[in-house]
Amino acid sequence: MIRTFLVFFVLISNVILAQNKLNLIPYPQKVQLLQGEFILPETFILSGDLPKEETEYFKKRIEPQLKFQYAQKSGGIHLTSSIIPASSPADAEHKKEYYSIEISPNQIHVKSYTKQGYFLALQTLVQIFEQYKESKKIPAMKIEDQPKFAWRGMHLDVCRHFFTVDEVKQYIDYLAMYKLNTFHWHLTDDQGWRIEIKKYPKLTQIGSKRKESMIGAYVDNTFDGKPYGPYFYTQEQIKEVVKYAQDRHITVVPEIEMPGHALAALSAYPELACTKGPFESATKWGVFDDVFCPKDETFTFLENVLDEVIKLFPSQYIHIGGDECPKTRWKECAHCQELIKKNNLKDEHGLQSYFIHRIEKYVNSKGRKIIGWDEILEGGLAPNAAVMSWTGVDGGIEAAKSKHFAVMTPGAYCYFDHYQGDPQSEPNAFGGFTPLEKVYSYNPIPSELNAEQAKYIMGVQANLWTEYILDFKQVQYMIFPRLMALSEVGWGTSDPKDYKEFENRVINQFKVLDDMKVNYARSIYNITGKVIPSNTGIAYELSTSQNTNGIRYTLDGTNPSINSKTYQNAVQIPNSLTIKSAYFEEGQLKSAVSVQPFTISKTTGKKITLEQQPSENYSFGGAFTLVDGIIGNVKQLGKTWLGFQGKDVVATIDFGQKTPFSEVYFNTLENKGSWIHLAKSAKIFVSDDNRNFKLIKEVEASEIQNASGKIKVNVGAQNAKYLKVNIENAGIIPAGNPGADSKAWLFVDEIGVN
Ligand code: ACM
Ligand code: ZN
Repeated sequence: MIRTFLVFFVLISNVILAQNKLNLIPYPQKVQLLQGEFILPETFILSGDLPKEETEYFKKRIEPQLKFQYAQKSGGIHLTSSIIPASSPADAEHKKEYYSIEISPNQIHVKSYTKQGYFLALQTLVQIFEQYKESKKIPAMKIEDQPKFAWRGMHLDVCRHFFTVDEVKQYIDYLAMYKLNTFHWHLTDDQGWRIEIKKYPKLTQIGSKRKESMIGAYVDNTFDGKPYGPYFYTQEQIKEVVKYAQDRHITVVPEIEMPGHALAALSAYPELACTKGPFESATKWGVFDDVFCPKDETFTFLENVLDEVIKLFPSQYIHIGGDECPKTRWKECAHCQELIKKNNLKDEHGLQSYFIHRIEKYVNSKGRKIIGWDEILEGGLAPNAAVMSWTGVDGGIEAAKSKHFAVMTPGAYCYFDHYQGDPQSEPNAFGGFTPLEKVYSYNPIPSELNAEQAKYIMGVQANLWTEYILDFKQVQYMIFPRLMALSEVGWGTSDPKDYKEFENRVINQFKVLDDMKVNYARSIYNITGKVIPSNTGIAYELSTSQNTNGIRYTLDGTNPSINSKTYQNAVQIPNSLTIKSAYFEEGQLKSAVSVQPFTISKTTGKKITLEQQPSENYSFGGAFTLVDGIIGNVKQLGKTWLGFQGKDVVATIDFGQKTPFSEVYFNTLENKGSWIHLAKSAKIFVSDDNRNFKLIKEVEASEIQNASGKIKVNVGAQNAKYLKVNIENAGIIPAGNPGADSKAWLFVDEIGVN
């Protein structure tokens, strides 16, 4: 039974004021400084009966800076611990991650109920030793601590790109450093099957390879022409990783995707699909129509696979995927349709539910539980299933309200494949914009839940999908420092109001990552630009979470140096130009150079209203984004574009006075793999009173297709106070496309006139 608790601790956690917080992440529930200090000795004496493996791990982490010795006799011992017996099984469950540390002038004493609690205490001690390694004087203190959430997870996709056993172990070490306790290993997907299954050798002989891989931005639709794989983990390697994680008190939750994301499996065993095949592992990213067909043969296969998986992974939960399963094939498959009839199912969504229920029953019969992405709610949730809420928070809310456990991992806060800084200065990423501060601001308990329902929120997790992450250096870059924010959110001591203070602790952790040669992102130093309306049109406001006095900029296209203009107030942008800016500290360039071109038109900075609002994940600066002088860039889906799912864009621009123009332009995007479709049509109107609009131009689908979405049309000589542009969403995605039958996305940017 998993419970959330610790309300009591949270109330008394701020014993130490923000400005003199210790450099700890996640910050403990309660820290109390006491009189005196513990002086770090030459050789640190450990009591002889400390839990062995945990202590050895601790020693390894700080061995270079400190010598260790186990005590031969009592007296003069520096680190002692006691493991307290729990008074009841419920108590044991509640307190298994509890620990206290008492640092007094002579000794450090750790108390916990379990070895896991002791291990967590040692992670805190490592950070304390790190902070005081120069002065060697650790203030006496008492820390009492335990996490708010039982599930604090990080996911890693090893299908789109593969990572070696050593790299996976490093990843697990990163989780351990910041007290995360769950590693969600995404082992199967369309682009590769990565786990050896003895009964089905073709899964890895065939399914662990693909012909080539898509490169660069999805919209480029280019491929590297290089065979990828065979890449997979043998069962011996899996055991090694599971053991490695266990030693660090981390649970490994394996994910075997079904019924969708199954192309690699079908490439090996085409008879498990609705149609004959042959199939190949996917070479591009996205969602594919060929999925497992719910026939007996498929269930036998999946049950046999799960048998081997369950033997390898002792986790309570087995992740069965369940996300993004197109129903295209099921609709046309005689067997599937027969099954729907026979079982009185409503439709193909009912069939998805049937699929998951049947798998759940099997997994439950083996004494385990299933967890799946929130689409497992489709057509009714399986009786004991837990939900991993990723498309937003609604899946988690629905689960909790119906007394099912949920792990919150909403894309807007927890997808670490999103950009963490201005995409101009970041390596190519999936899209979205999820900077450190956004992760830190996340509260895993949705406000819609009452206290009783909130108990079903097991915790929080971040996901790292690796379509655009080619190597382990890039993995490090994408998770650090955001993993630290996730860690504190999961621990329950984050406070978005204190983000600046948190950021200072993050910068302190950079020294540790430097020593470990970890390639972390320095994006927090980077400059964020924000366009604001001004009397002359627009102005560009520059900021960094550091001291803005350190910002230098140029308007002439040259790279900024320490001698360039010092930023003071928002820079006026009177005409089309490029602003380049960077952050300097003590004469040193700390940030990437931010480059922002502006294209000024008569609409720039004008008042704009939208009849329907964009989706939360792609709403960037609201309607103003369409007249901010920044032309949408395909690398910046989360920033310069507005995204609308299943909705038209109806934008009205108020010029303020009658304004002559003869050309109208706007951009829409196409990226079918991500369900983004070009507009179906567009209509352009003018008005002088914002009530009576005159249609001045219709743009047909073919014209939009031919221009690849970049529309620029002659509208004849106009002179009007209002311009209205109505851009029609493609609607329901047609069969044969990724996401068929779902609502298409319409991405729009910058509406201008000349
Ligand atoms: C997911 O991101 N498809 C779970
Ligand atoms: Zn079928």
